[in-house]
Parts: sequence; structure tokens; C-alpha cells
Amino acid sequence: MNDHTPQGEHDSTPVPLNQGHVQGTGGIPERFENPGLPPHVHRASDTDEQAAKRAERTIAGLFGLSMLGTVLFLVAYFMVDVDEMTFVPGIGDMSLSNLLLGLGLALALLGIGLGAVQWAKTLMPDEEVVEMRHPMRSSDEAREGFVQTILDGGESSQLTRRPLIKATLGGALGLFSLPLLVQLAGSLGPLPRNDLSVTFWNGEKGEDGTWTAMQRRLHLDPEDRPIKASDVTIGSVFHVLPEGLQSELHGAEKLNEITKASVLVMRLNPDEFQDTPQGRKARDWGYQGIVAYSKVCTHVGCPVGLYEQTTHHLLCPCHQSTFDVTNDCEVIFGPAGRPLPQLKIGVDAQGYLIAEQSFQEPVGPSFWERES
Ligand code: FES
Repeated sequence: MNDHTPQGEHDSTPVPLNQGHVQGTGGIPERFENPGLPPHVHRASDTDEQAAKRAERTIAGLFGLSMLGTVLFLVAYFMVDVDEMTFVPGIGDMSLSNLLLGLGLALALLGIGLGAVQWAKTLMPDEEVVEMRHPMRSSDEAREGFVQTILDGGESSQLTRRPLIKATLGGALGLFSLPLLVQLAGSLGPLPRNDLSVTFWNGEKGEDGTWTAMQRRLHLDPEDRPIKASDVTIGSVFHVLPEGLQSELHGAEKLNEITKASVLVMRLNPDEFQDTPQGRKARDWGYQGIVAYSKVCTHVGCPVGLYEQTTHHLLCPCHQSTFDVTNDCEVIFGPAGRPLPQLKIGVDAQGYLIAEQSFQEPVGPSFWERES
């Protein structure tokens, strides 16, 4: 359709670029004139070799910064004690190792990212290109042309003519892969062995690493005070840790034990437990409808923190595994493979809740040698 086409008639003749608009109905144009592209403005680095050299040095500097970041990461990973603390203004005490790992990774990523952006803005071709719409599958000639364009792009981005950029980009990308390999190879950590089977609920740990059984009170987290059975009303839920954990342990050991020993305490009407072997066991291991379950999800270990009072379901926010408290926290939905371990509880002479025995199975996700 063009200016000479009568209104209402359809003409499939393509309108060349930069031709006038097409009149629609009611004086409203159906299409507007293609304004075309404004004249291309050349950058300093396109016309001035000195400016191009400066851009090259800036890009190389940024890739070099990335390499420094990666080296900092590796040094922090291998040479800084994970328990060494440092004070950071505005944050407080934190692990020096974590701080340096984070800074190193941030510099490594930032250097590569900024270097690539600077390269694109100063040295890579920036001429505007118009590509008309064409059939979905390109012809063989077009495909060959595409390959040639890529090759030409490599040439025109000056990668082949700028060995400094080539070398520093190669170095930055090559070195950056090391943290990933290190993480894969070195940070999977040792197998849990006995670690998830023994928690602070087991009692007291001696100098030789053996545990002496003791009945610890249930302490509120984070208030660290004991909780009476009468405080737990029907429908309520409490986050609980073993007595002594928060006051006796420090640093990484404290964090480890908190992670393993965290427990949720809820009170149900005793009639609400299901009449199944699991439901009866859940009720018997509780106290007057108060039950305590590990907070560590049996899928991959997220904290199970959402309690639905009306259905008595516990929900893990990570992948929506749902556990039925009325049936010994059996999994009723989601990827978790096992129920949450139950802590057998009772009360002491003062009416405070105590753990009568520790978990009878390892807490948290499955692992290879779990059954042994
Ligand atoms: S960690 Fe709980 S559902 Fe995945």
C-alpha cells in the first residue's frame, strides 16, 4: 500500500524505507514514515589510535583486577583460618576468611564484567545495522555468511590485533574457573559420619569426644530461658535449643550445634493425633499433646519454619516439603524422603520441659553412610 492506493483496498506491495506514511481511515495514518537511522557518530577510539590504546589499557587493567580478585579468593581459601574473626565497621565481627572470599569473588566478577562492557563500548564495532525480516530458516548462503560474520566480528573486535586484551581476558577467564573447580573438589566437605547422629541433645561432651547422657531442658531460641509445659498453649509453636548450648559453646562450634539441634515445639489436642502406629508414637513421645521435632528439613537441610495451626502441617519454605504433625511428621508433599526426627520429651520436677532422650536417628538430609 502506498499514498496512491485508494482507501480500504489492500496492497501487499512492500513500502520501501523512507517513503511517506500510508493514509488510514478518518485521517489517521495507518503507518508512519520510516525515519531511518541518524548518521553514525564515531567514537574517539574509532578515529584516534591513541584513544584506542588508552581504551585497551583500561580494559586490560580491569581484567587484571579480576585476576587479582581470583588470587585473593584462592589465598583466602587456602591460607586464612576459617575461625579467624575481624571487625568490620557497620557490620561488626565476622569471619576474615568469609570477608576475603566475598571480596575476591566480587573483584573477579566485577573485573571481567566491567572489562567486557568497556571493550564493547570503546573497541567493538558499534555501527547500527538494519536487518530485514526474513524466513525463519536461513538459506545455506546466509548460514555460511553468518559464520563468516562471526569470524569477521572476531577480527573487527580487534581481539586478534590486541594480544594484551587476548592474554588478559584469557587469564581472567581461565583463573576464574579455578574457584569453581576448587569449590567442587574441595568444598563438598567430609562425609557426615557420626556428626548428624549426635547433637547437643545427647548430653555432655567430654574432653575425649565421648558423650555422657543427660536430660537437658528445652530453652527458647533466642531468649535462652527454659520453657514450662504450661507455657505451651494449644496451637502455639516455639523455636527451641538445648539448655547450655548458647552459653557453653562459642564460634563455629556453637553455630554447628545450633544448626543440628534446633527444634520446633507445638501443642496439639491429644485427640488430634492420628490413630496409626506413627500417630500413637508421636503422642507417646510428647507430653500432654506437646511434641518436639527437628527443624532441619530431611530434604536438603533448610529450616522447617512454617506451622499451619489448623491442619497441623509443617512446611519447609525451600521446596515446599510438608510434614504432618498428627502422624509423626510423615511427609505428605514435596521432595523430602523421610519424616522429621522426633525428640522424646517430658517435664522435670519444676514443670519445665526436658528432653528424655535424644533423636533416635540422624537429623537432616540423607547421606551415603546414613544407615550404617
Ligand atoms: S530443603 Fe526442605 S523441601 Fe527442600
